[in-house]
Amino acid sequence: MAKDVIIACDFPGAAETLAFLDRFGTEKPFVKIGMELFYAVGPEIVRQIKARGHRIFLDLKLHDIPNTVKKAMRVLSGLDVDIVNLHAAGSRAMMAAALEGLTRPDGTRPLLIAVTQLTSTDQQALTEELLIEKPLEDVVLSYAHNAAQAGLDGVVCSPLEAGKVHAVCGESFLTVTPGVRFADAGKDDQKRIATPARARELGSDYIVVGRPITQAEDPVAAWQRCRKEFLG
Ligand code: C5P
Repeated sequence: MAKDVIIACDFPGAAETLAFLDRFGTEKPFVKIGMELFYAVGPEIVRQIKARGHRIFLDLKLHDIPNTVKKAMRVLSGLDVDIVNLHAAGSRAMMAAALEGLTRPDGTRPLLIAVTQLTSTDQQALTEELLIEKPLEDVVLSYAHNAAQAGLDGVVCSPLEAGKVHAVCGESFLTVTPGVRFADAGKDDQKRIATPARARELGSDYIVVGRPITQAEDPVAAWQRCRKEFLG
């Protein structure tokens, strides 16, 4: 897969999402459908957006016992999405079960990637709340290694960690990185952030960008700026 910008379509309903995508005319950006939209509208929104010709990253971040995740992935494999994900914290056994459930009878499947640590989590929360005493970066790299061992295609991580993930897991192991902000904008609730150009330098394969595009006065211009800065 080539590098690209994925727009996080964090909207409350189908009407807002489709009106937003209408603004792009014949352009078909890669879109991310997250929990808010999926829980509000259901699988139909995936089918509708796919029918319009978009590639889709279905970001539901599954995390449960292996058998439950396997069965849920079997359901998701019936949707024609390009990427799905889960939390690496669910263990290697859970990730391997997910992969099994996701694989269709003909052997095809969407790409499966794992969330290492959310980009809204910082060292303080990791240590004081999650009681994980290792440095954040070590945790991210260890979780990425587990995902690779389980046969997954990549991870969701901060752009700041992309290079090291590639060093540990290989160049073809995908790094999909949220936490991207333009140099002249605020951080919102993100903590471990980079600009699109910096994300490219750091080796991100895909950047996931939400509010800097969806809340922009001109979302199409913001998307184009983002692609230009990221793809060079
Ligand atoms: O608006 P913003 O650019 O912060 O959106 C980032 C998107 O990426 C959100 O949909 C968020 O749920 C998602 N995400 C994240 N950090 C992760 C995994 C997913 O921000 N580690």
